[in-house]
Amino acid sequence: MSKERAQWGSKFGFILAAAGSAVGLGNIWKFPYITGENGGGWFVLIYLICIAAVGLPIMIAEIFIGRTARNSPVGAFRTLSTPGSPWLGVGWLGVVTAFVILSYYSVVAGWSMHYVWLSLRGVLAQVPVDQVAGLFSSGDAAHPGLYESPWTNLFWHLLFMAMTIGIVIGGVQHGVERWSRILMPALFLIMLALLVQAALTPGFGQALDFVFGPHTEKLTPASVLEALGHSFFTLSLGMGAMITYGSYLTQEDDLVTTAITVSVLDTLIALMACMVLFPVIFSYGMEPAAGPGLVFVSLPIAFAQMPAGMLWATVFFVLLTFAALTSAISLLEVAVSYFIDERGWARRRATWTCGIAILLAGIPSALSGGTRLFGADVQAATARLGLRGGAGLNWFDTLDYLASNWMLPLGGLGIALFVAWRVGGRAREEGFRAGTRYARLYWGWVWLLRYLVPIGMSVVFLHAIGVINFAASGG
Ligand code: TRP
Repeated sequence: MSKERAQWGSKFGFILAAAGSAVGLGNIWKFPYITGENGGGWFVLIYLICIAAVGLPIMIAEIFIGRTARNSPVGAFRTLSTPGSPWLGVGWLGVVTAFVILSYYSVVAGWSMHYVWLSLRGVLAQVPVDQVAGLFSSGDAAHPGLYESPWTNLFWHLLFMAMTIGIVIGGVQHGVERWSRILMPALFLIMLALLVQAALTPGFGQALDFVFGPHTEKLTPASVLEALGHSFFTLSLGMGAMITYGSYLTQEDDLVTTAITVSVLDTLIALMACMVLFPVIFSYGMEPAAGPGLVFVSLPIAFAQMPAGMLWATVFFVLLTFAALTSAISLLEVAVSYFIDERGWARRRATWTCGIAILLAGIPSALSGGTRLFGADVQAATARLGLRGGAGLNWFDTLDYLASNWMLPLGGLGIALFVAWRVGGRAREEGFRAGTRYARLYWGWVWLLRYLVPIGMSVVFLHAIGVINFAASGG
């Protein structure tokens, strides 16, 4: 353990990297479509409450574990408990989850790169509007749908993983931090430009009302669980990503302010994504409840009719790709840091090994669309991409289902219980209070971690495995 541990170049660098991890497909692809499906309005409010009451406490807990132990997840649990303690299982689970999530996350990221390409070449504008949907699922011979083209999927998956490996191999400061400093401001600027453009469309008012108005029509108990589940997926919690990033911090950094900043940035981007998407969707008469196809089907249809639509489409999918990339980096970093810290591997070796393993593990996800959905209509294809539990899941669905409904809630539960009940009270209190002006929130944080968060995580988990059943879930 004499090797010097990597560190962030600055606190700002850490915030950008952590925000980069948090802001991803979950914000720009998933949040708008689940908001659409749940009727906007109250769903958004409930989501905000979940972020503050469940997400934020776990985020603080994870950064606390990493910063205190200065070790990646498995080692961190060992350092803060005892060697061989069952708590190490939470760390192990995190490493496995990183492999699982990244293997299919990269495939969806590949779709967004494919759409950058389609918009750059003007394909989205050339095909008749009623065939844009076919570009995603079943197209014609000249333009086969993405979902029918295993080779296309494989190609983009490979390219995306190569980019991710290329960044992570550079290390904490020269890879992760440096690229976050480039990609995150770029992402923010692109988002602002898209927002200004969206504000000029006729559907902006309707979108504002949809997202922030008091709508409860589509709300069910399952919506609450969906908001809860999403609140920790979107903040990259439950598998040690923030433990790993936190482990490159120094002890003086103010934990609470940092966690709040990252959560606020993540929430801001998610809300901005809604205010970019829905105005365009409404302006061109599309359905907000289009499901996962919202970004890959409805939005391109809207863009295709818009003045300079291909320009905006290109910019939008570049944004989506950047967001996915900074998240993918953090997923790979969790796996890589395990091999560096626990097995003593060099970063180069660890990155290549994990990267290639994940690349291979992602192949069935890249292929599963093509084999299972051949000739299916858009409706069925996007329903399948709904990534919900249920019969007839393909490989891709199964992994996402397992990760978001089993592994992440269990990981989140483990992390909350560990910090609330196992870690020494002194260390915990000192860690929380160091340098922060939010010191008086300490007991609130502990209380949330002790009771509310474990109950929330358990309910998400029990609902996912069918022990609790809110029938009218629509999913
Ligand atoms: N938060 C990212 C998103 O919203 C996804 C992600 C990156 C993630 N790292 C994670 C999710 C770790 C869970 C755990 O798209």
